[in-house]
Amino acid sequence: MLQRTRLGILSKHFRPLTTSSSLMNLDSAPPSRDQRLVFAPDRYQYTKDSLNLSQVDPESPFKTFHTWFSHAKESSEVTSPDAVVLSTAELPSGRVSSRYVLLKQLDSKGFVIFSNFETSKKGRHLATNPRASLTFWWEPLQRQVRVEGIAVRLTAEESQEYYDTRPRGSRIGAWASPQSSTIENRDVLDQRVKDAETKFGGQEKIPVPPFWGGLRIVPEEVEFWQGRNNRLHDRLVYRRTVPLESVDQASTEGPGEFIIERLAP
Ligand SMILES: Cc1cc2nc3c(=O)[nH]c(=O)nc-3n(C[C@H](O)[C@H](O)[C@H](O)COP(=O)(O)O)c2cc1C
Repeated sequence: MLQRTRLGILSKHFRPLTTSSSLMNLDSAPPSRDQRLVFAPDRYQYTKDSLNLSQVDPESPFKTFHTWFSHAKESSEVTSPDAVVLSTAELPSGRVSSRYVLLKQLDSKGFVIFSNFETSKKGRHLATNPRASLTFWWEPLQRQVRVEGIAVRLTAEESQEYYDTRPRGSRIGAWASPQSSTIENRDVLDQRVKDAETKFGGQEKIPVPPFWGGLRIVPEEVEFWQGRNNRLHDRLVYRRTVPLESVDQASTEGPGEFIIERLAP
C-alpha cells in the first residue's frame, strides 16, 4: 500500500520502524531504479592525508582535538570549524534527535556548547538521558571527529561568564525565545524581544537566564577519522579504561585514563 504524507507519496517499500526487530522485516524487493529519489554511486576518493599513532597525543584526546581544531581554523576552506552536530536520545522512547550547535569551549574535562535547556528538544531529551554525542565534519580536510559521553550543565557562574561575552542582542534573544516551542507568528517573537528589552532597559549587565547556559560533553570516547583512498580510512579512538557511569562522575574529569585503539574503516 502506498503511504501518503505531507511531502507526497512514499514508496510502498517505506515502512516506519517501530521496534528494533522491524529492521529485519523490511520487504525483500528493493525499490526499482525510478523509485529511488537519490541514487549516488561513489565518485570521489579521500586522498589528502593519513593518521597514525605518532601523530596523536598518547594520553589526551583533548590535546589531539585541539591540534585538529587548529588545523580546521587555519584552513581557509573550512568555513565553520566550530559547527558540530549534537545528538541526543530521549528515554524511554529511544527517539534520537540531532541538530547543529557551536563549540564554544574546550577544556581538560570536555566540549562545551551553549543553549536553552528548558523548552528545546535537546533540553527535554537530556532531562531524561544525559548521554549525548558530537560529530564534527571538516570536509576540506577530509576529517571527522566523534565524541560520545555524558552531558553536564555548567554552573550559572560559568554560563554567566560566557553569556557576558555575547552581543547584547543575543543576550536579549536568549531571554526572549522559548526555543523550539510553537509560536503563532513572527510578531509573537518580536513582542517578546521588546518585552525583554524593556525589562533590561538601561541595564548593561544582564543575568544569564536560568533556563539557558553551557553544557559540557564529558567524553567516554573520542574518535579521530581521516579519510583514505578506497574508503580504507584511518580511525583512532580514545576510550576510557573505566566507563563513565553517571553525571556525578562526569562532573569531575571522569574516571580512568584514555587508551587508544585503531578501528577498521
Ligand atoms: C551552524 C549552526 C549553529 C547553531 N548553533 C547553535 C547553538 O550554539 N546553540 C543553540 O541552541 N542552537 C544553535 N543552532 C540552532 C539549532 O540547530 C537548533 O535549531 C536549536 O538549538 C533547537 O534545537 P532543539 O529543539 O532540537 O534542541 C545552530 C544552528 C546552526 C545551523
